[in-house]
Amino acid sequence: MKYNGKWALITGASAGIGATFARSYAARGANIILVARREDRLKDLAGELEKAHGVKTRILAADLSEPSAPQMIFDALSAEGTPVDILVNNAGFGMPGAYTENDWAQHRAFLELMVTSYAQMTRHFLPGMLERDFGRIIQVASLAGLVPGSAGHTLYGPSKAFLVSFAQSIAAECDGMGVHSTALCPGFTYSEFHDVNNTRGLVSQLPKYMFMEAEPVVEGAIEAVENKRAVYVPGAWNKFAAWLARTLPRSVAERMVKNQSARFRKKQS
Ligand SMILES: NC(=O)c1ccc[n+]([C@@H]2O[C@H](COP(=O)([O-])OP(=O)(O)OC[C@H]3O[C@@H](n4cnc5c(N)ncnc54)[C@H](OP(=O)(O)O)[C@@H]3O)[C@@H](O)[C@H]2O)c1
Repeated sequence: MKYNGKWALITGASAGIGATFARSYAARGANIILVARREDRLKDLAGELEKAHGVKTRILAADLSEPSAPQMIFDALSAEGTPVDILVNNAGFGMPGAYTENDWAQHRAFLELMVTSYAQMTRHFLPGMLERDFGRIIQVASLAGLVPGSAGHTLYGPSKAFLVSFAQSIAAECDGMGVHSTALCPGFTYSEFHDVNNTRGLVSQLPKYMFMEAEPVVEGAIEAVENKRAVYVPGAWNKFAAWLARTLPRSVAERMVKNQSARFRKKQS
C-alpha cells in the first residue's frame, strides 16, 4: 500500500515504536506529523525522513499528559489546513510500583496520556477521516491489555485493555465508511521503554524469544489496519500468550499472572 499525499500523525514519535511507525509510513510515501516532547529528536527524524523519502513533515512538540495538548494539536493543524488521514496513538510509558507507591497526581497524568489523549485525539481527527472516506487509526495497546491485570504497573494493563475495546468500538462504528481501526498489542519490544522506567536490568533477564524488534511489530500493524483487523498481536510468542489468556479459565489465567509477577518482584528485590 502506498500513501502518497496522505498525512500520518504519530504520537510518541521521538523514540522506539513511534519513530519506527514514522519511518515505515514515510517509506510508503506518507507525509508525517511528529508529536512528542523532545523537539530536538523530532527535528532530527523529520530531516531524516524528508531526505530519505522526499516526504513533507510537520513537528508538534507537546506533552500529551497535559489536558490541553490534543486540542492544541488539532487547532494548529486545522488552522493550516493539514488533514490527518492516518492516526497512530502511541505515546506512552510504564510506571512501576504498587498502586499506593505512586501519588494521585502521577496516576492522573498517566491516565491523561495513556487513555484520555488517545480517546481525544481520535475524537478530533475521526470526523475529517469520515468526510474524506479514508482513515487509518492505530491505538498502540499491549499484550498487557489482553491478559489479567498484574501486581505493580497497576494502571498499565487497564489502560491498554481500554484501548483494545476502544479500537473494536471504533472499527464497528466506522465499518464500511473507509475508516479502519486497529489495536496493536505488542509484547516486549526493543525500544527505550524499559530504560525510561528503569526496568531494563530486570527485563533483560527474560528469555530473548519473548522480545521483538520494533520493525516487524510496526510492519505487521500497518498491514493489520489495512486488512481491518480490530486487534493485532505481533509475533508467535505473543500470539501464544494471547491465545492462552483467551482460552484458559479466567481463574487459572489470573493465578498464572499472579505467580509470574510474584516471581518477577522477588527477582527485583
Ligand atoms: N516496548 C515495549 O515492550 C512495549 C510493549 C507493549 C506496548 N508498548 C507501548 O508502545 C508505546 C510506545 O512505547 P515504546 O516502547 O516505543 O517506548 P519509548 O521508546 O520509550 O517511546 C515512548 C514515546 O512516547 C513519548 N512520550 C512519553 N510520554 C509522553 C508525553 N507525556 N507526551 C508526549 N509524548 C510522550 C516519548 O517521547 P518524549 O519523551 O520525547 O515525549 C517517546 O517518543 C507505548 O504506548 C507503550 O505502552 C511498548
